[in-house]
Amino acid sequence: MIRRGIILAGGTGTRLKPLTDVVCKQLLPVYDKPMLHYPLATLMLLGIKEILIISTPKDLPAIKANLGDGSDYGISLQYAEQKEPRGLPDAFIIGADFIGQEPVCLILGDNILYWGQLKMVWGDCLNLTEGAYIVGARTRNPEQFGVIEYDTDNNVLSIEEKPENPKSSIAAIGLYFYDNQVVKLARELEPSPRGELEITDLNNVYLKAGKLKATFLSRGSTWLDAGTVTSLMDASNFFKIIEDRQGIKICCLEEVAFNMKYITKEQLRKKATQYQKSQYGEYLIKLLY
Ligand code: G1P
Repeated sequence: MIRRGIILAGGTGTRLKPLTDVVCKQLLPVYDKPMLHYPLATLMLLGIKEILIISTPKDLPAIKANLGDGSDYGISLQYAEQKEPRGLPDAFIIGADFIGQEPVCLILGDNILYWGQLKMVWGDCLNLTEGAYIVGARTRNPEQFGVIEYDTDNNVLSIEEKPENPKSSIAAIGLYFYDNQVVKLARELEPSPRGELEITDLNNVYLKAGKLKATFLSRGSTWLDAGTVTSLMDASNFFKIIEDRQGIKICCLEEVAFNMKYITKEQLRKKATQYQKSQYGEYLIKLLY
């Protein structure tokens, strides 16, 4: 059972400047909450309560100030620095002590998911004891991502990083599940021509060993990438429409924590009082009754 998760919130947010001169990408607002709350809520909804957040030395203090030790949400948050952008698999090297002898899940701090029955889709991934699981989603521009080629039984045939001629329109989203071998395998990777360790190289190691499985987001689920000003705005509008129309909040950490029974009503009340004068606070107060 996967109990530990890593959120990698690195990068310089070049494509979002000058916004990212003020605040790091992962703390930019996606409608009514910081971007990072979405992947964090995803992990919490998967039942993962021990979480390591990795970010740059510059951005980590602001992230810590926002989320603290996780006790407000009934979870445990730890933090670690990634001093240089060394690629996604570096998260397993930095997080080796945190991972210990356990399997682990990695989610990128800018990957935003909207789904229906989360646990039904990813139950298998969470029970992983050997091998790895990647998650695919249909995209219009697969060439900008890791691309998964698969057969009619959903077996992975190949995975290629940003290929010129994608073999499918399924991109590997920034959510991965690995057995404990991942720390050792990440340490054995060589940097790619762009000078970073590549998650696709790591996944190919599992694929060659016959230990890579894939699961796919179904229709009705959405993977949003808020990497440019336009897609950031689109993501905000997406959640604004759903939240305003239905009167619910998506990936509201306090609500997730309360529904998952990570926090008590009293803890929720405390947070609600803290945010009292905002719409967000009013929403939390309604949850109490
Ligand atoms: C990284 C991975 C890529 C994956 C993407 C998901 O890309 O290398 O395989 O599809 O994240 O967001 P990068 O953000 O480094 O371009």
